[in-house]
Amino acid sequence: MGLNWGFTLNILVSLLSMIALITGITGQDGAWLAKFLLDRGYEVWGVYRRLSTPNFWRLQALGITEKVKLVQADITDLASVVEVLRRVQPDEVYHLAAQSHVAASFDMPLATLRESGMAVAVLLEGLRKVKRDAKFYFAGSSEMFGNTSFNSRGKIDESCLFRPASPYAAAKALGCYLARVYREAYGMFSVCGMLFNHESELRGLEFVTRKVSNAVAQIKLGLRKELRLGNLEARRDWGYAPEYVEAMWLILQQEGPDDYVIATGEAHSVRELAELAFAEVGLDWRDYVVVDEALKRPRDVDVLVGDYSKAERELGWRPRTSFRELVRIMVRADLDRWSRWLKGEPVPFDAPFYVESSIVSGR
Ligand code: NAP
Ligand code: GDD
Repeated sequence: MGLNWGFTLNILVSLLSMIALITGITGQDGAWLAKFLLDRGYEVWGVYRRLSTPNFWRLQALGITEKVKLVQADITDLASVVEVLRRVQPDEVYHLAAQSHVAASFDMPLATLRESGMAVAVLLEGLRKVKRDAKFYFAGSSEMFGNTSFNSRGKIDESCLFRPASPYAAAKALGCYLARVYREAYGMFSVCGMLFNHESELRGLEFVTRKVSNAVAQIKLGLRKELRLGNLEARRDWGYAPEYVEAMWLILQQEGPDDYVIATGEAHSVRELAELAFAEVGLDWRDYVVVDEALKRPRDVDVLVGDYSKAERELGWRPRTSFRELVRIMVRADLDRWSRWLKGEPVPFDAPFYVESSIVSGR
């Protein structure tokens, strides 16, 4: 009987390939990370939650919906998580799923603590029972530092204290502490990535960068007249998301588990963001932006700017996309989508589902 070489090769490749499990695969980072890992030959599994309407537009936009293996689970339910871990037997777990919106966490603190904090214990306990040797990445956040004191370079590094300023930040700090506890108590490869804001054309509409790029595109095409924003003075360290998911992977490829700050080292204000984005299409932001007090948060972090020296030294990672370039990528992507949408072309994106932009405007 002759050998089917193609079939044999497929089996060999699948035996050799690493298995990654991503929670939050339908989100911005989950989609970029899935693409990054598929490109490196990983078998990629993604956990998604049950919704009445499927939410796979980012996977569709990247053309990978058919390439990832999707499995439904509730990240707050140990039985459900254990079932997935038994089935997938992952080598690497990237736990990205979370209620990720800071302002929303003031409206639903308990749900945020459960989904963004306690769920980390669910994943870690599940792994400890089912696949203790898997490497575990937890999506920590620069928000954990809050209005902390900066290092001698005037930035935030791994040694700075956590001073959470929102329920979201408190939940993430809990998750980060848990990742360390499981590493120290059980010797698990469990790490906390301290990532500063990272954005892309796949960003959710409720975050300020995409809210701005989407509105600029609509205004330019005559689809709306103004953009309402909250705190224009807040300063953030905004990088390009595809580069940040690469850092997540690099952190798991190190010999030992450790926590890293991933950032650009530059802070810009929301005002500068608006100015640049409107200038990208030849408009003056002052003609369209309205400050709306209702969009200000009960408490905000004034400035977040990260020092990525350790990541550069140990991971060989550094940011490559400037703030100006990031804004250009996002504005151009939304202009392109809305232009194609106006021509009746099918485009996988979220914005047309929200007729009245204020529904998803966040704060
Ligand atoms: P995102 O676009 O908001 O995606 C969040 C993901 O979590 C989505 O897949 C979402 O599923 C899922 N999710 C939310 N609540 C869930 C729940 N109760 N059960 C199961 N899944 C749930 O966020 P992102 O920008 O990709 O960020 C990824 C992770 O990194 C998050 O943990 C975020 O907090 C953290 N982080 C992000 C940044 C940043 O600047 N992007 C910086 C630091 C840390 P649905 O699609 O069904 O809603
Ligand atoms: N969303 C939003 N909408 N933010 C606004 C608005 C508005 O209309 N107007 C001003 N802002 C300000 C917020 O007050 C905040 O200071 C800043 O813009 C950034 O807000 P977001 O884009 O919502 O992001 P974030 O910094 O609160 O949180 C993001 O980054 C964190 C890392 O620092 C999220 O991705 C978190 O999940 C992540 O951990």
